[in-house]
Amino acid sequence: STGPLVDQFGRGHTNLRLSVTDRCNIRCFYCMPAENVQFRPRVELLTFEEMVQFVQAVVPLGINKLRLTGGEPLVRRGLASLISQLRTIPGLDDIALTTNGILLAEQAAGLKAAGLDRLNVSLDSLDEQVFEKITRRTGLDAVLKGIAAAQAAGFDNIRLNAIAIRGLTESEIVPLGRFAIEHGLELRFIEFMPLDADGAWEESDVLTGTEIRRTLEAEFGKLTPVHRDDPSQPAVDFQFVNGGGRVGFINPVSEPFCSSCNRLRLTAEGQIRNCLFSHEEWDARAVLRSELEPAQREPAIQDLVRSAIGAKAKAHGISEAGFQQPARAMYQIGG
Ligand code: GTP
Ligand code: 5AD
Ligand code: SF4
Repeated sequence: STGPLVDQFGRGHTNLRLSVTDRCNIRCFYCMPAENVQFRPRVELLTFEEMVQFVQAVVPLGINKLRLTGGEPLVRRGLASLISQLRTIPGLDDIALTTNGILLAEQAAGLKAAGLDRLNVSLDSLDEQVFEKITRRTGLDAVLKGIAAAQAAGFDNIRLNAIAIRGLTESEIVPLGRFAIEHGLELRFIEFMPLDADGAWEESDVLTGTEIRRTLEAEFGKLTPVHRDDPSQPAVDFQFVNGGGRVGFINPVSEPFCSSCNRLRLTAEGQIRNCLFSHEEWDARAVLRSELEPAQREPAIQDLVRSAIGAKAKAHGISEAGFQQPARAMYQIGG
């Protein structure tokens, strides 16, 4: 049962996003409820051993890129040891991590030593007050120290992810642009998607990539398009005229990129999702914890992944009539 994971629309899947926890040390409003968050009991989360088994099962199906997500992945104890175990799987060319950066100062060197290839850090604001409005916690200084520590540890292609929200982060666009240029970071702006826990998202809250680009161009001069090496990457990339660095726009709402989607997801409790917006999940944990012999587990996981990919919808349809936000919020899916 090996071979490429191609769905009904001809999309091949080579990229796995693996959530290692639903917990987080901040409370961004676009991802989590403010208080009384219902985290999954620890026994429901996959162990590192189970995660490794899952990844070993999907690599023969053509998965060669892996990204660890959360919740906040760095709150999961011993994450570096998971990365070193994943590193030994032949066929995984790229292991990346998306983090909020709060715990990065203490962990960056260990992550590098474990073999992590790439790091994306979420940073929506450089203003402490705006940061706290979004995250409902303090921590901007810790994130900035984390980024510096990651650069010192040898991560040289760090990407900064900034969610843009109308009426809230307009003031952050230019300072983030300047910060990225000065620190040699690749900045990406991401449109706010209906994956918040409170169901408060409205299309009018979305500050689009086009609008942000205009704001940046007014300050830094024209942005020139850069050819994308990987057509399945969500970002559309540009270069600042003065050569100061790159800026990308991830526009899932105004310019959906579902037609080139190559992503498969596994939640922290071992549920396979074929899309951020799917309403169905496939229970890999049940297979991983079943009485099956190890040799039979692998094909059973592969069958389940094929079923999930076979049922993948053409597109998310966020702007279409009848769109329904999934029951799970971003922190429960894994970003
Ligand atoms: P790179 O490999 O560095 O390009 O990573 P990435 O951009 O795929 O990963 P990252 O976790 O940094 O993604 C940034 C954000 O893009 C996510 O948090 C989402 O908001 C959005 N995004 C990523 N993948 C998808 C996707 O498949 N669908 C949609 N709609 N949004 C996505
Ligand atoms: N819309 C778009 N992106 C989101 N993220 C979290 N929630 C949302 C949302 N509702 C992104 C954050 C972070 C990553 C983990 O997920 O920007 O970079
Ligand atoms: Fe892929 Fe779903 Fe994201 Fe579209 S919304 S790009 S199909 S994960």
